[in-house]
Amino acid sequence: MPTQPNNSHLPFGDQRTAPWYGKDIISVKQFSREDLEYVFAVAHEMHDMVDHVGTFDLLKGKILANLFYEPSTRTSSSFTASMERLGGSVIPINEVKYSSVAKGESLPDTVRTLECYADVIVIRHPEVGSAAAAAKASRKPVINAGDGIGEHPTQALLDAFTIKEELGHVDGLTVTLLGDLKHGRTVHSLARLLSLYKVKLNYVAPDILRMPAELIEELKSKGVQQEEFTGLDKPLPATDVLYVTRVQKERFTDESVYESVKGAYVIDPKVMKAAKERMIVMHPLPRVGEIAVEFDDDPRAAYFRQMEYGLYVRMALLAMVLGKA
Ligand code: NCD
Repeated sequence: MPTQPNNSHLPFGDQRTAPWYGKDIISVKQFSREDLEYVFAVAHEMHDMVDHVGTFDLLKGKILANLFYEPSTRTSSSFTASMERLGGSVIPINEVKYSSVAKGESLPDTVRTLECYADVIVIRHPEVGSAAAAAKASRKPVINAGDGIGEHPTQALLDAFTIKEELGHVDGLTVTLLGDLKHGRTVHSLARLLSLYKVKLNYVAPDILRMPAELIEELKSKGVQQEEFTGLDKPLPATDVLYVTRVQKERFTDESVYESVKGAYVIDPKVMKAAKERMIVMHPLPRVGEIAVEFDDDPRAAYFRQMEYGLYVRMALLAMVLGKA
């Protein structure tokens, strides 16, 4: 049996007065730059612990309800893995069609049910504001795992952590967000979160998929330097982080409109010749053709590493809201 490492230096323990104990995580707007540094420090410790012992008992006896009203591979399985690596367990409701939701149960009633059995609820739902509504109905912490085209705060936190781990810092970087910036909740959350740093944000999208004007205004009022493009040629050479997204087929009412924009950008080794040698390409995944598999072996392709960082960040967030970090 491996011996337990001496972890008395770690920020773990029963800290019920910890600032995130019992809190919901609904929007990146809840996070200050100091909070981010804290999340990243805890995520680092989680990484070390996973490397050393794999699984440990920080959240032993705690139960997570994973309530997914929309498809998910990474978010749902990484929350499950996070909880299990911390010694807790999971009630998986990945297919709401097999739950009472299919009988017409309301979101508040479903949440009130799960809070009787679980200590924390992770929710993904197609409507903007659904996670906030669930949090209102619940006495237990609720974590937003994507509310329609609204936000995806835990993804943005893991994205920022990825940038920091891969490039060493965030301040001073040029970050180019590309693809479906209208419907992409990951880019909405990430752009907001990056406004806490001194970054230049480029938005590359077809005309009908531009970053929402309200979000651009919101960041402008915070003094963030932003520029919009329809092509990647101009912004690519100065880009430090190229964040690629999928055109969100499920958000289109007219399939022909989706067809007209789905292949707008394809990142491949040829396109990437114009990019810096030291930069990274990220993607929240799933990809559906916007990054060619031929690019996967390029050291700048960070999207698979990004998924692993997500485990440590979600472990950190669960420990924080359950009062153990
Ligand atoms: C994203 C999502 O669900 O918003 N996926 C994820 O959580 N990693 C991105 C997407 O579906 O395109």
